[in-house]
Amino acid sequence: MDVQRKGNVSENGNARGSDMLCTLAETEECDFSKLMERPRPLNMERKRSLDERSFNELSTALSPHLSLRNAEHSFRLTDPFGCFLSPERRSGYNTPRAENGFETHPMVAEAWEALRRSLVYFRGRPVGTIAALDNSGENLNYDQVFVRDFFPSALAFLMNGESEIVKNFILKTLRLQSWEKKIDRFQLGEGVMPASFKVLHDPVRNNETLIADFGESAIGRVAPIDSGFWWIILLRAYTKSTGDTSLAELSECQKGMRLILSLCLSEGFDTFPTLLCADGCCMIDRRMGVYGYPIEIQALFFMALRCALLLLKQDVEGKEFVERIVKRLHALTYHMRGYFWIDLKQLNDIYRYKTEEYSHTAVNKFNVIPDSLPEWVFDFMPTRGGYFVGNVSPARMDFRWFCLGNCIAILSSLATPEQSTAIMDLIESRWEELVGEMPLKVCYPAIENHEWRIVTGCDPKNTRWSYHNGGSWPVLLWLLTAACIKTGRPLIARRAIELAEARLHKDNWPEYYDGKLGCYIGKQARKFQTWSIAGYLVAKMMLEDPSHIGMVSLEEDRQTKPVMRRSNSWTF
Ligand code: GLC
Repeated sequence: MDVQRKGNVSENGNARGSDMLCTLAETEECDFSKLMERPRPLNMERKRSLDERSFNELSTALSPHLSLRNAEHSFRLTDPFGCFLSPERRSGYNTPRAENGFETHPMVAEAWEALRRSLVYFRGRPVGTIAALDNSGENLNYDQVFVRDFFPSALAFLMNGESEIVKNFILKTLRLQSWEKKIDRFQLGEGVMPASFKVLHDPVRNNETLIADFGESAIGRVAPIDSGFWWIILLRAYTKSTGDTSLAELSECQKGMRLILSLCLSEGFDTFPTLLCADGCCMIDRRMGVYGYPIEIQALFFMALRCALLLLKQDVEGKEFVERIVKRLHALTYHMRGYFWIDLKQLNDIYRYKTEEYSHTAVNKFNVIPDSLPEWVFDFMPTRGGYFVGNVSPARMDFRWFCLGNCIAILSSLATPEQSTAIMDLIESRWEELVGEMPLKVCYPAIENHEWRIVTGCDPKNTRWSYHNGGSWPVLLWLLTAACIKTGRPLIARRAIELAEARLHKDNWPEYYDGKLGCYIGKQARKFQTWSIAGYLVAKMMLEDPSHIGMVSLEEDRQTKPVMRRSNSWTF
């Protein structure tokens, strides 16, 4: 079937203009490889969506050198439920939906009210949600709109058919990206997205301005590497949810994406495809020993690359980035699935590693010394199950389990279906440790005593089993729920949601809980923390209507399954 694309198509059917693209709205119809052969007329098949294009095919179309066709694995970017969610589905701005015969929990209405109270307006339009509406303590920066914190709010609004605020947020943060960013005399990369922003009201002049923090005000002065990734992932969620492709197609959005990608795809001295990070550059925004190659960033990086692949125009500039993304994804997948993955068998292999191996035949490539294995990991590892470890770099494996990275690995299909199942098995068999009384541990286990002193620099906020150091964060509930739905384990999510419902509202939506089981409201936890509220709502809505998962999930290509072996010779 001949389909006219968004751009101009001349009388004789030739495409004109350099920005012809396959829009997401046309996903059912677009053949990516044909697109690369501009300006010939396009003959697009209706069968498969752009989402379903494996990047095998993409790379074949792009360059013969990049062909992954013969590689042993590929990806299919399918929405398992196949279609856009209609913007018409909302049941009214203030009315939470109760579909499929699910009883709406009384907390849901309370949560919606609290979420609406957290809205931040700029010149009359909603542009985000404040981090916390708690005036009992010092505000610090909790009165700002954080990019990462807004993500679950955005999902809640999208699921309720309220996409305008999400669009405003995407455009506002994009404008902030173009600001000149400096820390003292040092200029930050053009593509850096802010960690947070705030609306300033000037009562005298009666006007409003924005201020943003790119790390230059943040405690520790770290730039948020995750912000740009969340931004790209949100742009795709918005497009997927609304069917409105025009936002992503805007040249500003395309440029914003390319700037973010330039930062993380730049060449340097790296020997790994993973992204080298400073401590505190993500949700864990204080020194916690996550410097190096933290799983949270690597998983978000992977997901953002895959989303960008769906959103980038196939113009000259876009095409160049698509090529670089495809290459990087290929290497990143290999590296992450191989070296970050651990289960009983792999742990046993590391335990028996030889050290000081030189040359290409080395099995213990990073020279991890078995004596450095922490004792807890042997008890923690179940017979069935596995996870992506916290960090891998020369002679260093951080075996801690981090929630966000593992859930994003499932959603983005960085994890193979088998690995995803194994992650869920681990959560089930280590329920007390990871979920306890309040979902969900940000990481496990906590670091204590001397190690805490060395690793955190004696951080009094991050004492053992508190805050980022083994604290329990209700916001993570939406990620767990999404991972459960994707892996077909909704009962796990249901159990976790019930635990949250027993306390969250009664405790006024704390930011985090402390203690081994997460029984105690966190030492310095803010109340009415917006992402705790939004996280709960998103979890509820997803469980009610699992088709929402399409906004935050990318499928693996099931045509060719990777063959994995536990040795230095990984094949995919
Ligand atoms: C804390 C958290 C960070 C969050 C911010 C605002 O700094 O560590 O992840 O974005 O609060 O809620």
